[in-house]
Amino acid sequence: MISRACKRLVLHLPDAASTERHETGASITQSCHSFFRELNKVGALQKGHNMSIFVTGGAGFIGSNFVIDWLAASDEPVVNLDKLTYAGNLQNLTSLAGDSRHIFEHGDIGDTARVSQLLAAHRPRAVLNFAAESHVDRSIHGPGEFIQTNIVGTFALLESVRAYWGGLDASAKADFRFLHVSTDEVYGTLSRTDPAFTEAHRYQPNSPYSASKAASDHLVRAYHHTYGLPVLTTNCSNNYGPYHFPEKLIPLMIVNALAGKPLPVYGDGMQVRDWLYVKDHCSAIRCVLEAGSLGETYNVGGWNEKPNIEIVHAVCALLDELRPKADGSSYATQIAYVKDRPGHDRRYAIDARKLEQELGWRPLETFDSGIRKTVQWYLGNPDWVAQVQSGAYRQWVQTQYTEPVAKGVLATCI
Ligand code: NAD
Ligand code: TYD
Repeated sequence: MISRACKRLVLHLPDAASTERHETGASITQSCHSFFRELNKVGALQKGHNMSIFVTGGAGFIGSNFVIDWLAASDEPVVNLDKLTYAGNLQNLTSLAGDSRHIFEHGDIGDTARVSQLLAAHRPRAVLNFAAESHVDRSIHGPGEFIQTNIVGTFALLESVRAYWGGLDASAKADFRFLHVSTDEVYGTLSRTDPAFTEAHRYQPNSPYSASKAASDHLVRAYHHTYGLPVLTTNCSNNYGPYHFPEKLIPLMIVNALAGKPLPVYGDGMQVRDWLYVKDHCSAIRCVLEAGSLGETYNVGGWNEKPNIEIVHAVCALLDELRPKADGSSYATQIAYVKDRPGHDRRYAIDARKLEQELGWRPLETFDSGIRKTVQWYLGNPDWVAQVQSGAYRQWVQTQYTEPVAKGVLATCI
C-alpha cells in the first residue's frame, strides 16, 4: 500500500521553478523517487539486466522536456535518438551537457540497422517514441514527410524493437515496454456540445498529420495483438511550455508579439483546444510507463478547453503585465484575423478519467499557472528564441503566412 502511494508520488515531478504549493510534495517526491530508484537497481541487478530507457525525438519540444525531467529525478540513463529535423534542437538539452546519463545519438527511427545496433548496445528496458513530424499546417503544405516518419518510420522502429525484444531473456522480455506518444487529433473533431473524447471514441483523423499519427497508433496496436509486443499508447491534448517551437499557436503569439508583428488568428478564432502544460504530459507518460496495462491506450488532458482567441488574449495580457510596451498600448492590438486553415478541426476535448482513476495521475498546473511560466520562460530565454528563428524558420513563416497554398491564400498578414 505504502509503495503504491509512493510510486504514484514519484510519477508527479514538479519542475525546478515550482511554486511554494509544490515544495512539500517535491521533497516527498524526491525521497520516494530515491527509494524506488534503489529498489529498481536491486531488482535489475538481481535480474541481471541493465537499466536504461531509449527515447526517440528527445531533442524536440515534448521529448526534451521529458528527458530533462527524467534525469532530474532518476539516475537511469537515457539514450536519445533524434534526427534533428528543423524541430529538433540540441540547445533544448544544454542543461544536460557533460551528463553521462544522457547519451545522444543523431539518427532516424526509420534506419533499422542503426536502431537495432543501438538497442543491442544499450539494452534498454523501454523504448518511448516521441519522434514525429508534428505540425498540422506543415502537413497541409507537404504531407510526404509525415507519411515517411510517422507511418513508415514507426513501422521500422516497431520492427527493430520487435527483433530486440524477441531476443531478451524471459524476465527482461516480461518487463520491457514500448510506449508510443500520440495525440487527441486522431479522434477527429467535436461539436460544441459533444462529450469529450474517451479512449473508446472512434478514430476519425482529418489532417494529414492526424491521419499519419492514427496509422502509427494502429501499427502499435497491431504489434501487440499479433506479436505480443508489450505496448502502451498515450493520446494527449495540445501541449504548451518551454522549448516549444514558435510555429505552434502559443509560442508563435509570444515571439510575434514581442517582435511587434501581427498575431495571426485563423478564421473566427473560436476553435477550441484542450491545453496541458508539457511537464504534466511528461508526468503522465512516466505514470503510464510504470503502471499502465499492456496494450491499453490512455488519454492525457488537463480539462482546460479554451477557444484560440482566449488563449491569444491570455498571452497578450501576461505580456502587458510582464513586458509592457513603451507606448502603453496592449499587445492585443496586434491581433489579426486571417484566412482559416483548410479542414480546420473545430474542437478537441480530452476525457482523462481513465488515467486519473486507474493510475492516479493528476496535472500539477492550472492553465493560469502554466501559461504564466511559459511566457516567463520565453521572456527569460531570448537567445533560444533567436537561435530557433534561423533561416529555415523564416522560410516557413514566409510559406505559411504569405504564399498561396493549394487553391487559396491561407494567410496574408506578415
Ligand atoms: P516536435 O516536432 O517538437 O519534435 C519532434 C522531434 O522528433 C524532433 O526533435 C525531430 O528532430 C524528431 N524527429 C522527427 N523525425 C524523426 C525521425 N525520423 N527519426 C528521429 N527523430 C525524428 O514534436 P513534439 O511537439 O515534441 O511532439 C512529440 C510527440 O508528441 C509527437 O509524436 C506528437 O505527435 C506528440 N504530441 C504532441 C502534442 C503537442 O501539442 N505538441 C500533443 C500530443 C501529442
Ligand atoms: P497548433 O498550435 O498548430 O496546434 P494544433 O493544430 O495541433 O491544434 O494550433 C492550435 C490552434 O491555433 C489551432 O486551432 C490552429 C490555431 N492557430 C492560429 O489560429 N494561428 C496560428 O498562427 C497557428 C499556428 C495556429
